[in-house]
Amino acid sequence: MASKIHKICCVGAGYVGGPTMSMIAHKCPDIRIDVVDINEKRIAAWNSETLPIYEPGLSELVTGSRGRNLFFSTEIERAIREADIIFISVNTPTKTYGQGAHRAADLCYVEAVSRIIAENAEEPKIVVEKSTIPVRTAEAIRAVFDASDTEHHHEVLSNPEFLAEGTAISDLESPDRILIGGEQTPGGLKAINQLADIYNHWVSEDKIIKTNLWSSELSKLVANAFLAQRVSSINSISALCEKTGANIDEVAKAIGSDSRIGPKFLKASIGFGGSCFEKDLLNLVYLCEHFGLPEAAQYWESVLQMNDWQKKRFADQIVDSFFNTINDKVISILGFAFKKDTNDTRKSPAIDVCKRLLDEKAKLLIYDPKVEVNKIYDDLGTDEENPNVVICSDPNQTFENAQAIITLTEWDAFKDIDYEAAYQAMQKPAWIFDGRNVLDHKKLTEIGFQVRSIGKPHEP
Ligand code: NAD
Ligand code: UGA
Repeated sequence: MASKIHKICCVGAGYVGGPTMSMIAHKCPDIRIDVVDINEKRIAAWNSETLPIYEPGLSELVTGSRGRNLFFSTEIERAIREADIIFISVNTPTKTYGQGAHRAADLCYVEAVSRIIAENAEEPKIVVEKSTIPVRTAEAIRAVFDASDTEHHHEVLSNPEFLAEGTAISDLESPDRILIGGEQTPGGLKAINQLADIYNHWVSEDKIIKTNLWSSELSKLVANAFLAQRVSSINSISALCEKTGANIDEVAKAIGSDSRIGPKFLKASIGFGGSCFEKDLLNLVYLCEHFGLPEAAQYWESVLQMNDWQKKRFADQIVDSFFNTINDKVISILGFAFKKDTNDTRKSPAIDVCKRLLDEKAKLLIYDPKVEVNKIYDDLGTDEENPNVVICSDPNQTFENAQAIITLTEWDAFKDIDYEAAYQAMQKPAWIFDGRNVLDHKKLTEIGFQVRSIGKPHEP
């Protein structure tokens, strides 16, 4: 293994692998980076003008390095053979079968990559867990190496990723911290420093936290659990606000001004979505149960229960407002992604809300600026033959004869819509259910809308 890193291989060209490696390529022009994946379509998209994921600033970053020191391909074995350091950035979904089903992380993709590394590495490598995995996964990776014919000792490091979608590029450019865990042996400590050297190209040493393997692996799950817990906490209070006349935005500001609490992650919503919060919480719950800590498991499970309740509460409120009859009512849906500035819909709360409205036989006119049409149909388990699901290419198309507008993603552009014109196009009474508290409720009420939001008293 070279002391200085010249070549990186990243297995997994997804929401983490693509942006993370693009940033390293941009900051370290002296390092060659191969991002490899089994998904040929995805790789072709990374090599095209239309990248497979939407992320502000990503396209410029990729174009700047692609073909110079950043390469996307399906040549997994070759890239592994040539690399000094290999990042595993594959998906780690919740298991759907066998022991730990619907709770534990499915490590089959991580294991498959470990096996390919064991079979193809012709010299000692540094293998980095970039994927989010349960604590002690490095042991499982090591077991794969030990069971193989290889005579080489590969160092296994944990280097979890903390980027959030929609802000991935700025998160990568100015991270709060870089966490690197490794074995506390001379070889392990050397590998930690080699990985830190890569980040040192643009991240100062004081932001690089070096720990043992298990602390690093566990910290990633705990960070997501704490963030999700804040969203569930504020959402639980939003329900209380609706009963008492308190305003959730005012309460969030009041408590967030306490420097011990802080202002971030206190935005009440229809509930958190995204590919990771739910799966990582389930994973934490499973670990607590596995290690005989049922009370701790129950505590973290309640964060998920609160999230499910919030999504249901919001959908119930819509149906109740129409006296339980929304069949054949036209409803405008603004936003389908799980948050703004991404085309990702994994676990988007919009899916649950739309499915509930479709069960009630409403007709949905859906607009999202970045999510592909087919993705919306797939997520809703339907297709373009369904007359009750119409995907629109302009938000204004969703208002014609609609009885309600529902905002499910906080895209900035939704603030600039001409709601006077929308109101004119809609049936009366015209409703707005703002699931993200992003619109000007006072102004909408003045236009004539019946406005309902999360955790706020109704405008008189
Ligand atoms: P993703 O599904 O977008 O990408 C994973 C990629 O791995 C896919 O393209 C898949 O084809 C590829 N892959 C799977 N098995 C493979 C194999 N054997 N060989 C080659 N390629 C293979 O997932 P993601 O969102 O990038 O997440 C990856 C990991 O990072 C997960 O563990 C996730 O929890 C974690 N994470 C995600 C985010 C995020 O914002 N999405 C942030 C931090 C951490
Ligand atoms: C989250 C974490 O923020 C990242 O640090 C982590 O790396 C990542 O998960 C991961 O491991 O995958 P992400 O899911 O991309 O990032 O986006 P967030 O900004 O955390 O939002 C998650 C969900 O919570 C969204 O649906 C968002 O709308 C919701 N949310 C967030 C709220 O409802 N209120 C808030 O105040 C903040």
